[in-house]
Amino acid sequence: MTATEVMVVGGGIIGLSIAWRCRQRGLTVTVHDRGGDDGAWYAAAGMLAPAGEAGFGQRALTGLMVDSAARWPGFAAELERESGIDVGYDEVGTLSVALTADDLAEARRLWEYRREHGLGVNSLLPSVLRELEPALSPRLRGGAHAPDDRQVDPRRVVAALRATLGPAIVPDLIEPEPGFVQPNQHPTSGEAVEAGPAARLDGAEQSAARADRAVVIAAGAGTAALTGLPVRPVKGLVLRLRGEPGLLRHVISGWADGRHVYLVPRADGEVVVGATQEERADATVTAGQVLELLRAATDLVPELGECDLVETLVRHRPATPDNAPLLGAHTGGVIVAAGHHRNGVLLAPVTADLIAELVATGKSAPLLDAFAPGRFG
Ligand code: GLY
Repeated sequence: MTATEVMVVGGGIIGLSIAWRCRQRGLTVTVHDRGGDDGAWYAAAGMLAPAGEAGFGQRALTGLMVDSAARWPGFAAELERESGIDVGYDEVGTLSVALTADDLAEARRLWEYRREHGLGVNSLLPSVLRELEPALSPRLRGGAHAPDDRQVDPRRVVAALRATLGPAIVPDLIEPEPGFVQPNQHPTSGEAVEAGPAARLDGAEQSAARADRAVVIAAGAGTAALTGLPVRPVKGLVLRLRGEPGLLRHVISGWADGRHVYLVPRADGEVVVGATQEERADATVTAGQVLELLRAATDLVPELGECDLVETLVRHRPATPDNAPLLGAHTGGVIVAAGHHRNGVLLAPVTADLIAELVATGKSAPLLDAFAPGRFG
């Protein structure tokens, strides 16, 4: 028998997307989540950028990113149609830029790697870069255009998913024990995210998994506490600036004196500046971290120094030992979709489609083989 009902634990962009796709397949859906903005999606800039983000040694993950990027146009259009909410999907590509000769050498190695994976990365002279984006610093040594990269506004995507799912989203049923991390729980300033020893998947979820009712754990960093699987929080600080609309058109991903930064402009003049990546679980924002991001950002686009700094925000990327997601059947009839690290927004469509297929038909797509939740033993 295949499932006719699904309980999704975690209402971030992954959990909501899965629930939405499951409901489209005719399943009865419940999403357990407290609402709020605790998830990594709330900080995410929304780059849909396999060519701007693919990293060395991540062959299977890069394939998954490329597959999901191809699903985004349909996902965004359908979600907008169903919800009536504009999700900020924008087809302008990424400009990858380098400030110094050393930065350019580093960037070129990555561009070459990405080309080897079939990703469109076209080298550009500094003069052409500045024709495309006049606000870029005249000091830039070089860059490249990734025309197939896209962007979306993750906050709008979550609002749209919440609107379509409506009353199917209910507060957590999980009783907190000492040290227990609720799905997508975000710490208060300075507090660490730790998987509590008492946390187990032996409450509502496990007893709820039956032949006709699937349970999907999509609880971000909280997945470790619920399943015992190795998902760790990786701290990211993101800034939001606000200036005149039109200062930047493309997403800029750049190196400035060895520091990497990305700049994601929105139509209303907001520019998301991201992000630190630290193996830490606290939520403190230090002046030094803000300074580092702003220094890199203004080295690449000097006029950003005149924008208002409207938000400093820490969230934690849910990461696994190989930094690729956990996707598929776990023990006790439970399915896991978590650990998307830097790529939760980009990977939402492929995750949702393939996990919904697994729930509805019991069939695991071959694309999921490399991401089995049990691969770490
Ligand atoms: N996807 C970019 C980041 O995680 O910072």
